[in-house]
Amino acid sequence: MPQGAWWFGGWIINVQAESETVVGCTALSCHFGKVVAVDGISFEVRAGERFALLGPNGAGKSTTLQMLITMLRPTAGQAQVLGFDVTREAAAVRAAIGVVFQEPALDDRLSARENLEMHAALYRLPRRGRKMQIAEALEWASLSDAAKRPVSTFSGGMKRRLELSRALMHGPKVLFMDEPTQGLDPQGRQHLWERIESLKSAGLSTFMTTHYLQEAETCDRVGIIDHGKMIALGTPEELKRETLGDSGGTLEEVFLKLTGRALRDEEATPRARMLSFARKGGEHTR
Ligand SMILES: Nc1ncnc2c1ncn2[C@@H]1O[C@H](COP(=O)(O)OP(=O)(O)OP(=O)(O)O)[C@@H](O)[C@H]1O
Ligand SMILES: [Mg+2]
Repeated sequence: MPQGAWWFGGWIINVQAESETVVGCTALSCHFGKVVAVDGISFEVRAGERFALLGPNGAGKSTTLQMLITMLRPTAGQAQVLGFDVTREAAAVRAAIGVVFQEPALDDRLSARENLEMHAALYRLPRRGRKMQIAEALEWASLSDAAKRPVSTFSGGMKRRLELSRALMHGPKVLFMDEPTQGLDPQGRQHLWERIESLKSAGLSTFMTTHYLQEAETCDRVGIIDHGKMIALGTPEELKRETLGDSGGTLEEVFLKLTGRALRDEEATPRARMLSFARKGGEHTR
């Protein structure tokens, strides 16, 4: 893969050498009181790679992602993003990454354009060219015609496209996405997934969590986490071979074989239950 800049839909993404590690963590842990959310996990994401973290509800996926994006401080262990330590060099990490959160993180009262303007101001994108960049971001998200509408009137798919487009606006080198397609209908999911796929050919490294096994199948490498521990790591093909043997099977079979069939709902904390309620359309005070 070539080094240097790549012109992509109005954004320039730096393409790094494939062998380079863009995310690395060693014995990373996070405890919430007595709850061990992440328990000493180690893995790396290489440049240009699409890495998926799979796991049942409450397995520790979001907690892992939040430590990598510097929103949560690890209780133990280390993590680096693009060579910057997530604890000691948090500002440098934040400047270099894009994030799509599990919970919607748009201002519903503002229009799509205003949400992007706010992001451009927060990231101090040069004033010259901002208007053009915002227009391109709206175009990429197929939202040019809805640019002036308040986000509160958007469908789930429109909001997700806007969030993804916003996360890319400042030209991140690594993109973190926490269940980006969750809650979308098959059309919305397909639409968003096509955009995510196009990022790979532009050389962007992505770290994502997902519950959709078909999406994980198309990723370069997959980590399976359960009860805070990384229980399997490899390409989808490697995981199938190692877990199911030569007869093969699907990633879903691998997932169920490794994590069991028991429902995890009972284990959800009050906070997790509240967020799940909100996701299904309920309201709560943030
Ligand atoms: N702020 C918090 N305070 C207390 N416990 C928490 C907090 N955040 C997460 N947890 C707990 O840590 C564990 C891991 O949660 P996490 O949100 O990382 O799981 P997840 O794999 O992202 O699950 P889901 O698929 O439901 O999004 C769960 O037991 C959860 O209830
Ligand atoms: Mg989560």
